[in-house]
Amino acid sequence: MNDEVLSLAKYLASSRAGYALSEMNLYLSEKYEEKELYEILKPHFYDLDIFCGADYKCTKLVKRPLPADETVIRELDKLLKKPKLPARIESLIESYIERSCGKNWHTGRTAELIRENIVKQKEEYWKRKGISKYPKIRIISYLLYHFPVYFCQFQFLLLELLEKGLLTNKMSFLDAGSGPGTISLSLMDFLHRLLGVYSKKGFDVKLNIRIDSVEQAQENINCYKELASSYLSGLSASALENANITIEEPVHAPLETVQAPEADFIILSNVLAEMSPTPRERADVVERLASRSKNPTIIIIEPAERETSTALRITQHALTRKGFAIYSPCTFIWGVGCTGEDCWSFLELGNIQIPSFMEKIARAEESYRYINTDMKFSSVILRKDGLAKHAYRAKGKFVRLANLKKHVEKRVNVVASVMSGNLGDEKTFVFKICDSTASIPCYAVLPSYHISEGNKRLFEAGYGDIVEIYGTLVRENKALNSYNLLITRNTIVKPV
Ligand SMILES: C[S@@+](CC[C@H](N)C(=O)[O-])C[C@H]1O[C@@H](n2cnc3c(N)ncnc32)[C@H](O)[C@@H]1O
Repeated sequence: MNDEVLSLAKYLASSRAGYALSEMNLYLSEKYEEKELYEILKPHFYDLDIFCGADYKCTKLVKRPLPADETVIRELDKLLKKPKLPARIESLIESYIERSCGKNWHTGRTAELIRENIVKQKEEYWKRKGISKYPKIRIISYLLYHFPVYFCQFQFLLLELLEKGLLTNKMSFLDAGSGPGTISLSLMDFLHRLLGVYSKKGFDVKLNIRIDSVEQAQENINCYKELASSYLSGLSASALENANITIEEPVHAPLETVQAPEADFIILSNVLAEMSPTPRERADVVERLASRSKNPTIIIIEPAERETSTALRITQHALTRKGFAIYSPCTFIWGVGCTGEDCWSFLELGNIQIPSFMEKIARAEESYRYINTDMKFSSVILRKDGLAKHAYRAKGKFVRLANLKKHVEKRVNVVASVMSGNLGDEKTFVFKICDSTASIPCYAVLPSYHISEGNKRLFEAGYGDIVEIYGTLVRENKALNSYNLLITRNTIVKPV
């Protein structure tokens, strides 16, 4: 009988702008309560392109970019500025830990075991071995130690996508290597907050969202399912009023061989470095994952630490050779791509507030070993259609960073993306810069006594933003095989 309901819903969705579920009874051979019809159709809302509200009225959903005017962005930015796990997520995680390890998980022998595991997990990571197994205790220590930062940092990338008009009211996501569901939960929470901002600002926005996931460890899938369904069932009816979120059954498979469903967004957060293929070969895995999707936005996130970060750039470069274009953070300022070799670049977003469960497990000697609040990561966003965050291309008057050798000890004009926060200190500010032509690292160096009206806009440049620098002195750092571009008080820095 459900087939009859579904085919009628398909017909109505294609022929009408809107209808009440009760109207369906006019055409069905068997009569249903509205609630029953709603439950039958709920998993199909996404494919039917309809949005059905709590009043059981359905409307056709036309795909369009989500409103992202300045007031919306400012409001969301305010929410994310003091990053912390939302209270609901905190209690969701803590309840899960309680169900797994008992109410007193943070005291006695259980807490000792968890702390030992947090330390072991970090040691294994640095030794790069044995990180593919996820027994229960590992999931608990992952939730306590890694989850909060990864959850919060992902929302900054979503904000960037929203701001640039890449998020729409109908979207499908693939959380690849989902672990306990960090990315899926972060996404749902972001959308929930966004809907809150829309309703405050009087925007009528409805969302149709589908989330798929792939994961090789069954224990993680169990955790994912429990957390995701508790999250959704814990939302009030009013919070869900404008969002139809379908979480598909997680696919239990390795990313290397899975037949991944098509998706608008494919996210690999802290997964690539755990995989056995080489950084170059990982591009094949990502390409396979994206093969069914028309024009996916692929988001890859890796730790900022040197080895994983530089490996990400090699994978990224291999993907560009397969026809994927970098949306951000790199801009091919001269229209030529870099080689992706030896590039260590990451974004620093500061610290999140310590979640109460992290504080509890850290009530021990050397508590710093159990505290992880630093949002610092490397990432890349790729697309197939060539869309880039910055469309800027340099013209004539600048020296390419690849040609600095010819200009050592001379003043030149350059244009480059700022690819780090301050790597120096308060006396000497150092920023990694890149125009994608140079094979050796280049830095803009600004001693504090040289800060002037003309050059202080260097501090305003966000990660990946482009600046034109006029009259900078080229210095070669032979010991570190790099170039320093000295910004003096007469140097002019202009964001573009
Ligand atoms: C560090 S966790 C990251 C989890 C989550 N994405 C996050 O950012 O918190 C890595 C996850 O990737 C999974 N994973 C690693 N290699 C995989 C592979 N080849 N196929 C599928 N999953 C994999 C692990 O089982 C683990 O759940």
